[in-house]
Amino acid sequence: MSARAPSKQFNLTSTDFGTGFSWGISTAAYQNEGAHNIDGKGPSIWDTFTQKKGTIYKAQNGQTACDFFHRYKADILLLKEMNIPNFRFSLAWSRLLPKGYGHISPQGVDFYNRVIDFCLECGIRPWITLYHWDLPQALEDRGGWMNRDILGWFEDYVKLCASLFGDRVTHWMVLNEPMVFTGAGYFLGVHAPGKKGLKSFLPAVHHATLCQAIGGKVVRGLVPNAEVGTTFSCSQINAFSEKSKDIRAAQKADVLLNRLFIEPALGLGYPSENLPILKRLDSFKKEGDDQKLLFDFDFIGIQNYTREVVKHSYTVPYLHAKIVPATDRPVKTTLMDWEVHPPSVYNMIAKFNAYSNIPKIIVTENGAAFSDNIRNGAVHDPERLGYLQQYLYQVHKAQQDGYKVSGYFAWTFTDNFEWAEGYFPRFGLVYTDFPSQRRIIKSSGKWYRDFLGNVP
Ligand code: GAL
Repeated sequence: MSARAPSKQFNLTSTDFGTGFSWGISTAAYQNEGAHNIDGKGPSIWDTFTQKKGTIYKAQNGQTACDFFHRYKADILLLKEMNIPNFRFSLAWSRLLPKGYGHISPQGVDFYNRVIDFCLECGIRPWITLYHWDLPQALEDRGGWMNRDILGWFEDYVKLCASLFGDRVTHWMVLNEPMVFTGAGYFLGVHAPGKKGLKSFLPAVHHATLCQAIGGKVVRGLVPNAEVGTTFSCSQINAFSEKSKDIRAAQKADVLLNRLFIEPALGLGYPSENLPILKRLDSFKKEGDDQKLLFDFDFIGIQNYTREVVKHSYTVPYLHAKIVPATDRPVKTTLMDWEVHPPSVYNMIAKFNAYSNIPKIIVTENGAAFSDNIRNGAVHDPERLGYLQQYLYQVHKAQQDGYKVSGYFAWTFTDNFEWAEGYFPRFGLVYTDFPSQRRIIKSSGKWYRDFLGNVP
């Protein structure tokens, strides 16, 4: 199932993907909004984590970020100018519920009402992500994702969002990349809240998987005609060699990076046969949980950037597998040191398509960080443009081959706060000059605008 190389000249247009295909661009609250303590917003785990020494590149934070909170009108007008029909953004839980539950902030509600209304006024469909990693700090203080009470906190939060905005918003995503926020945040400690080890990771995984289904059910129950999805990070995995040790290592990485969160929702249970340590998740299960994990999402959002090559390692506990860095291989890489490997998106679409009960796949994130410079007032970014075209070529090929892929959202709109890497990697199709907050559409953004030009 290997994918062909793209032709030198990219000559697809958006209409080649058909009229039902959803085109868009994705962002997230903490990475874009700023206004971290304005109008009653409570702190999130990212507000706290970024204040800890040594956590973030150059001790940067998202306190101001792209100041989307104040500039949302100009930014949405820019989306319109760029012909972008669907705008995916996330809600900051602690902007709506400063303590995570209980008191509702009227200013927070007002902000998202204004954003949604202005999108609609501009003819742009809002797609909401309910949780893109910024847990209210007040909930983290009570154990966060490790505390089973999060099932109730999350259910109430989703009920609030669905009843506030469901009259105008039809497209919802429950979680953004649960593997990343549990793995980086509760196992490796490199993302908020900075917890480490299996004892935090395993309960966080089980509770996030339950919340994924709980959130889906709440939205479906409260929003008429809702399209309910959730998103997963995923990467093509290749074994470093044909040796059985490396092949087994690659299978384990595949469980963690691609299978862990989708399979329980589909009724397949946690994929512990290739990664026995996951059997320990059973100790966090209560009666009836296997049923509670199930939800039949209307679409699955897959987020693919790269592929990983994996080899056996005696020194990595539990997993006995490690990633061979792309920089140690003779391949093209981005500023994140991720391999540019366009067939990865094709292969991930094919992989998720192979599950029998996924009705629709949407690529809800794909993009690349390369170094950008302003020259004569313009930002020329041929590497990003080439990346997007090559990946889109593969998405189109997947569609032509009969896979159920029906949307593509580029990551991301304006350059923003890239988590632990701070403002160093720029992923935007629009350049953000952070000191002045001026936006400059990069050549990749102009190309996307023209490519989308005739989307109905
Ligand atoms: C994803 C994440 C985004 C963005 C992107 C680029 O994992 O959902 O928030 O940071 O990666 O690294």
